[in-house]
Amino acid sequence: MSTFKAPKGTFDLLPPSSATYLAVREAIAAPLQTSGYGYIETPGFEDVSLFSRGVGESTDIVTKEMYTLTTKGGTELALRPEGTASVLRAALEGNLHKAGNLPVKLWYSGSYYRYERPQKGRYRHFSQVGAEAIGAEDPALDAELIILADQAYRSLGLRNFRILLNSLGDKECRPVYREALQTFLRDLDLDEDTRRRIEINPLRVLDDKRDAVQKQLVGAPMLRDYLCDACKAYHEEVRALLQAAGVSFQDDEKLVRGLDYYTRTTFEFVHDGLGSQSAVGGGGRYDGLSEMIGGPSLPSVGWALGVDRTVLALEAEGVELEIPAATSVYAVPLGEEARRVLFGVVTELRKAGVAADFSYGGRGLKSAMKNANRSGARYAIIGGERDLAEGVVQLKDMESGEQEPVALADLVAEVRARLG
Ligand code: HAM
Repeated sequence: MSTFKAPKGTFDLLPPSSATYLAVREAIAAPLQTSGYGYIETPGFEDVSLFSRGVGESTDIVTKEMYTLTTKGGTELALRPEGTASVLRAALEGNLHKAGNLPVKLWYSGSYYRYERPQKGRYRHFSQVGAEAIGAEDPALDAELIILADQAYRSLGLRNFRILLNSLGDKECRPVYREALQTFLRDLDLDEDTRRRIEINPLRVLDDKRDAVQKQLVGAPMLRDYLCDACKAYHEEVRALLQAAGVSFQDDEKLVRGLDYYTRTTFEFVHDGLGSQSAVGGGGRYDGLSEMIGGPSLPSVGWALGVDRTVLALEAEGVELEIPAATSVYAVPLGEEARRVLFGVVTELRKAGVAADFSYGGRGLKSAMKNANRSGARYAIIGGERDLAEGVVQLKDMESGEQEPVALADLVAEVRARLG
């Protein structure tokens, strides 16, 4: 061990378990890639104000959790705490919305940073795969995204997750509701902090986990009763499309997300095996975000799924992903001459698309074969002086244990044929 450790709230992904993370990212991205979503990458940091304006001045993310820094040139930057504001910023800057076909559909995968109190499932550096559909107001688009996330989770073998669904209304009906809620909340017996929240972000008060608060919230005005006709119809259509697709969900009128940009559809994927950090993914519509960051009106919808929590969910369900061995063929040379020849063979195999590895470091047969075994390779190629003199190597099937000589000249073709 060195003197250094990974910073608090972070962890390293190391083989072999890192392969699971890669597989999870790929499984989440797969349905997006076949549904018209193009890949986007944005910088790991942005202007602080992109997030304070986009995610919201009053959110925990902006007030407590951002890693901010001032550059030598005096620019205020923040490590990205989420992807939506960055992706929209990049789409606007790149004029993707002017290219003619809306919605612009994008997917991404990367690291995000939040200065949170670390615990299982909650880290300061974590990983998301996300999708954003920018510039269209269409309930089918909301439904598409939820269906694709559901499909991704199912393809991984997850079953014990639930989809919570809500509508937060729009700029017509939400302000009316907000005021009604504030009037109700101001009469309650609440602490200083919560009273302040009533004025800044009253919907978050509904989310308070404390019993004493929840008891007083009985009878609070519910947003559902304040939704305007357009929002109601929109929400009903999203629900109907999900039902028609056979995706089950639970209406959760208390679902308020931790980011301020949401309008209308909001949803969360929760997993029941994860304890308090049960949200494996979430998202929703953000029809006003573009204008909030200085762009034109571009109603949009998206989600991000947490890779770390998805891996925890797989563990909780006891799902083991079938990850094919990284190596198909492992070469074991016996002696100097064989080293040169087999190293050449490995290079040829790799060029021919066969995953191959080599016993480095001049090991003896026994320890080299142990490594061959550990590599998960289906075949080992063993070559000694006598084999080479005869123009062959020994091809050993690591599953059956059978071994036979194969002419060096035929080896690549033979291995490829056997691997199918
Ligand atoms: P979010 O709900 O803040 O939404 O994060 C999405 C997911 O990222 C969470 O459900 C969780 O799985 C994971 N996550 C968040 N914070 C942490 C953490 N500290 N440690 C581990 N995992 C974490 C967003 O980020 C929105 N940008 C989603 C979105 C996209 N909305 C519209 N488009």
